[in-house]
Amino acid sequence: MNKKYQKLFSKLVPYYVCSHELATRVNKKLLDQFFKETYYFNPLLLESRDFIEKIYHMDEITFGSQQLGMDRWVFFDCSVMPGFVFGLMINSSELDDSDRETLGIEKNEFFPLSMYIAIPCAGGGWFGHNLSSLNGKLNYDLSGLGFLTKTLALKFFGIEKHLGATQWDSHSVFLHLKISKLKLMSAYTPIHSIAETFSYEAETFHLENLLAGIQDQREKEQAVDFDPTLKNICELQEKIEAGALVYLLGVKKEKGKNIFQILYKDKF
Ligand SMILES: CC(C)(COP(=O)(O)OP(=O)(O)OC[C@H]1O[C@@H](n2cnc3c(N)ncnc32)[C@H](O)[C@@H]1OP(=O)(O)O)[C@@H](O)C(=O)NCCC(=O)NCCS
Repeated sequence: MNKKYQKLFSKLVPYYVCSHELATRVNKKLLDQFFKETYYFNPLLLESRDFIEKIYHMDEITFGSQQLGMDRWVFFDCSVMPGFVFGLMINSSELDDSDRETLGIEKNEFFPLSMYIAIPCAGGGWFGHNLSSLNGKLNYDLSGLGFLTKTLALKFFGIEKHLGATQWDSHSVFLHLKISKLKLMSAYTPIHSIAETFSYEAETFHLENLLAGIQDQREKEQAVDFDPTLKNICELQEKIEAGALVYLLGVKKEKGKNIFQILYKDKF
């Protein structure tokens, strides 16, 4: 396993927030392989309040700057009641004084460093509507945290098919594409807050392969480069609406832009 994941496994502690019913269906054995303990917070109990306030604080640090911070009712009505929040937290004694000051905490208390939120879709699968990590926001090195959080969340909740929506220029596409190829459902999504958003569905890979960085390379030979300019994504949207089956297989950075490896399964 990659050393950066080993370090995160040894220093961080998983937490999850969801209904009591869903909490009875998680794969505890999976996390027991990697962590000594896992904490559950019931959203209906006042004793969970202090920790959930810290999740709001994390959200403010990660998404607040993009004006995409989550309303508290979204967290309750559209996250922890129908679905779950899963993330990794740290005992603040592991952090330096400057990081504790950034987070507004004392020594020896838990603070969440990441979260993935998913809700079940009536048509099948789970929609991940929030992924965040404090990697890069603290002196403490958290490289790999976003990837580990989403991967463990999918496996912990037994999710086979997951859906999502992300921006073509997002930093997160590297992470999503490390987990699985993405079947495009839309390439241009003007009813979203950001029109240059694509939506996708994906099947999750074997956890051990993911942690070892093993990906199926076979299809990549047939993929072509795709530059997501507005013109290109609008044209791609037309093809998808006409029935094309299109997958994103990978991404690279070229002159500061995300350039995707795209696979057309049919001739268009
Ligand atoms: C997006 C976000 C979740 C990423 O979290 P993170 O902890 O930094 O992610 P990770 O370190 O696990 O993974 C990032 C991967 O992408 C790679 N990556 C990122 N930018 C890259 C680039 N320019 N070129 C190549 N690889 C890049 C990293 O190297 C890493 O891969 P590696 O582990 O093989 O090195 C985090 O930055 C965040 O919370 N952002 C604000 C909220 C947001 O935009 N969320 C996404 C919503 S879909």
